[in-house]
Amino acid sequence: MGLDAKSRAAFQYRDQFKAVGYPALLTRKRFILATCASLLFISFTCLATFVRYTSNPAARLETESVDGPRHNIARPDALVDPFGPSSVLMGEPTISFRDNLRSDTQYITSWVSAGWTNDVMTYINLIYLGLITDRVPIIPEFIPSHIGGHVPPIPFGEVFDVPRLRTELGKPVLEWREVKHPSSTFVDDIGCWNTWEAVQYREAFPRRSRIPGDLKLDISYTKAPTWIKMIPDYEHDQHSTFWSLATLAFPSTREASLVPPLPSPEHNLSLPPDDHLLCYDYLYYVCAHKSNELEFDYSPAWRYVGKYMHWTPALEQLADQYVRLAMGVAESAPIPAFISIHVRHHDFEVYCGGLPVQECFASLPVIDRRVQEVKEEIYQRTGFVVNHVIMTSDERNATWWHEVAKLGWFTPDHSETEEKYGEWYPVLIDAVIQSQGVGFVGTDRSTMSIIAGRRVESWQSGPTRLVKWGNPHSDDH
Ligand SMILES: *[C@@H]1O[C@H](CO)[C@@H](O)[C@H](O)[C@H]1NC(C)=O
Ligand SMILES: *[C@@H]1O[C@H](CO)[C@@H](O)[C@H](O)[C@H]1NC(C)=O
Repeated sequence: MGLDAKSRAAFQYRDQFKAVGYPALLTRKRFILATCASLLFISFTCLATFVRYTSNPAARLETESVDGPRHNIARPDALVDPFGPSSVLMGEPTISFRDNLRSDTQYITSWVSAGWTNDVMTYINLIYLGLITDRVPIIPEFIPSHIGGHVPPIPFGEVFDVPRLRTELGKPVLEWREVKHPSSTFVDDIGCWNTWEAVQYREAFPRRSRIPGDLKLDISYTKAPTWIKMIPDYEHDQHSTFWSLATLAFPSTREASLVPPLPSPEHNLSLPPDDHLLCYDYLYYVCAHKSNELEFDYSPAWRYVGKYMHWTPALEQLADQYVRLAMGVAESAPIPAFISIHVRHHDFEVYCGGLPVQECFASLPVIDRRVQEVKEEIYQRTGFVVNHVIMTSDERNATWWHEVAKLGWFTPDHSETEEKYGEWYPVLIDAVIQSQGVGFVGTDRSTMSIIAGRRVESWQSGPTRLVKWGNPHSDDH
């Protein structure tokens, strides 16, 4: 293994502590009104649920949107989507999340703070932990830690196809915006596990994230037992294991592990870890067997969750437009099979130890050698010759891009992407394009490349390579 994920993400940390919440849309007066309305709504929902389950199932079709604040969240009916929100929530998003949880269901959640790709991996871990603890995962938004604090967060469900995910999992998956109203200013008290202080020794506080602030949660943390750390007392690794964390979801280990909690910052409340909505501060550094194992074929988080996290159809269509435009393919014509490349430079310059970029990173001929290997492997496997190659990269040097074009490789034109779709979209579109290759060549130790490679293997049955870097001979083989 190369860089640990801490250093992978180090460059991305600059915005993580800027907790800028949603604008406080609900004033106190409106809050009281809204609370009354939501109480009324809850009683109504209970009645409606009772009526629904005791009458003709077709009646379920109309009972969904009866409350005040309207939402543009698709709420597929329970008949069509048996694992949809209505199967595990009381109803529409509420002012306090507690009003929306069902007493017969247990839930699990966590926060993120390490750049988009690493946050995707963290949510994969969260959903997997939900599977092995029989709890419904509630997924927060993606925060713009790699883009800049001025960019609004983007909901998980605007990137990943949540209805498809829960259908393929055969389990419910929720987003926070479906549970608690995104513009609610009501502060919910909750107890959570602090895993961060059990796995590392530099920071004497739970892992920080802007998500609890955005969700208006006032958290009292209980320090998790030190035995959750996979390699005891080893400061150079901060992983815990899925099953050590999972034991805390069950009564016997939970009770044996309780210690006096840290009072919450806002209400000064000391609360034990919540058993209805179980929460952990941070789940990036979690594995079954080995640190950073998502890149390995056996990774359970990938095999049972990650591979079912497909893009939303809207995002796929948008990426298709970019690919068509890049290749000069007419709108109605099929897109030819292509090999995708991801070259990461800028974020990784800090690891070059002062070497000039041109000597540190693989040159285009070195990358091309890998492209030819992938092409050959596809030909050996399928008898099919792939002639199209698409480069995605964070490189900004125009000369370098000119050399890419001279190789006959295509590239998405992002000159207007931010203006048209917002600052999230260059990276989202690139990630989709990378995953659509029938073969993939990425940058070694880049989590964005690693996850793109897994998608190409799982979704396209395509061969993948990661190009090594560090000095001019790093990728010699
Ligand atoms: C928080 O609560 C504790 C125990 O009730 C009390 O001793 C302490 O003074 C409180 N701290 C603040 C800042 O209110
Ligand atoms: C841009 O890339 C070219 C070719 O790779 C290289 O020769 C040149 O030094 C680079 N310019 C800068 C400013 O890095």
